[in-house]
Amino acid sequence: MYDLGVPIPSKKAHVVRNIKEVSQAQREKMLKDTEYSMFSFPADMLILDFLSDSGTSTMTDLQWAAIIHGDEAYGRNRGYYILLDAIRDTFERGNQPKKVINLILSGETNVDRLMNELYLNSFEGGFVNGGVHQLKRPNAFIVPQGRCAEYLLFSTIAPILKKKYPKKEFYIPNNGHFDTTEANIAAVGLHPVNFFSANLFEEFPIDKINLTNPFKGNMDIKGLKLFIEKEGEETIPLIYLTITNNTAAGQPVSMKNIKEVSEIARLHDIPLFLDACRYAENAYFIKEFEQGYHNKSIPTIVKELFSYVDGFTISFKKDGLANMGGGLFFKDKGVFHRKFSGDGDIGIHLKEKQISTFGNDSYGGLSGRDIMALAAGLYEVVKEPYLRERITQVRDFAKKLSQKGVPVVLPPGGHAIYLNIDKFFAGTDMKIEDFGGVGFTIELLRYYGIRACELGPFAFEWDNKSPKEREGILNFVRFAVPRNVYNTNHIDYAVAAITELYQNKEKIPKVKISRGAKLRLRHFQSGLLPLYK
Ligand code: F0G
Repeated sequence: MYDLGVPIPSKKAHVVRNIKEVSQAQREKMLKDTEYSMFSFPADMLILDFLSDSGTSTMTDLQWAAIIHGDEAYGRNRGYYILLDAIRDTFERGNQPKKVINLILSGETNVDRLMNELYLNSFEGGFVNGGVHQLKRPNAFIVPQGRCAEYLLFSTIAPILKKKYPKKEFYIPNNGHFDTTEANIAAVGLHPVNFFSANLFEEFPIDKINLTNPFKGNMDIKGLKLFIEKEGEETIPLIYLTITNNTAAGQPVSMKNIKEVSEIARLHDIPLFLDACRYAENAYFIKEFEQGYHNKSIPTIVKELFSYVDGFTISFKKDGLANMGGGLFFKDKGVFHRKFSGDGDIGIHLKEKQISTFGNDSYGGLSGRDIMALAAGLYEVVKEPYLRERITQVRDFAKKLSQKGVPVVLPPGGHAIYLNIDKFFAGTDMKIEDFGGVGFTIELLRYYGIRACELGPFAFEWDNKSPKEREGILNFVRFAVPRNVYNTNHIDYAVAAITELYQNKEKIPKVKISRGAKLRLRHFQSGLLPLYK
């Protein structure tokens, strides 16, 4: 077969939604009345929405079909068992999934079989204990979102640490904490620290985009080692790796880096956790670009990835898994379990908190329908034709912008493209404290009905930080691409709009924070004012 240089389509639309015709005047009124906040603008009035890829993906027909099998029981809904085993399939079984979901989808009536293969599944030693082991040593916690898993984890371990070492400060290193992760860690008095890869801002030639990848999402190993030496291993309750690295322009992390970090963690007896949002997309990059992985299947790569870690938090709203869901999982009798179980089993502590804040362990704040969509989704998102088309769409978006001269981070990651805002405004009088990225998003919405998100001095609160802290603030506008939602027309419309604005960048207004500059996570809630000349 000839290589046409374009991906073979992997899916077709089954249901579509009409986009409303909205005038510029209507958008302007709405912008004004919502204090120019991207988060407060009604999605229904947009043409394209790149605010987030989280929970915004179109599900497949197989996921919708699974939903009808959802069971809304308060205790031990059938989807719970299916989901637990789908997690084992995904993260532990590689090419040998059991797919017990098919027992339910096919209407299996043999109750002995259901008991043996589903309800009495007695596992131990992995990420998901089964049967009585999950009752005695709980290690799998489903929750509504990724941030709930982060909250559950950090709000449970912080008091344990402080009781044991009342005078110590504790640090959580990451290759790039996501904003909610950072907030959840800081809220309980621990200190998040980032070790971005040194090559993050290195130039990358556009003609190499299909040939090689520098894995700019990696953790800076040298920095991590020095930090452990300086602060002491006992001050680091766990190390976190985010795949893909959303905060560092959505860049992937290599298997080599994960292995190296896991060796450091093992050496110091520190548990290593993944923030596993977008694991499938990260696995695709490893397959495409890392030596030795080209002929391996995505499920095998995922299995290897997770074999190096002791646990993970995950938002199931990413990777096209589902519209809602999150989770916390850790290895039965692993490092984390051992280190935090001094004062009673850590799993029991986590379960108590899960029940009192989100819901009992078998639904964790999700509906039975959500659980079924997610269980089916775990098998959908590792399909290679889907991943190839998905990653290629994002890559083409970046390529087209770059060819028009717009400064976009190259190569792009898997879920979004990021404009480099310092470069975007080079040659104008826009200064960092003028929030040019925010001005750009306002104009993009106002003229073209396209929503994107500033992840720079406004979101990361440049004005509220010390000169030292300011050094770590990146200046991006992110276009997160929802999965299975947009086609080439949509991308081309966005490219044309962004290019036109870039060519008129002198007219983009500086922006003032008109309300709530000191609010926590202010980019979700404060008011803004563009200063039109
Ligand atoms: N970790 C990463 C790397 C994320 O990207 C997100 C969410 C979370 C954790 C939290 O998960 O939203 O389910 O609570 N990222 C979304 C985004 C919101 O737009 O990048 P959540």
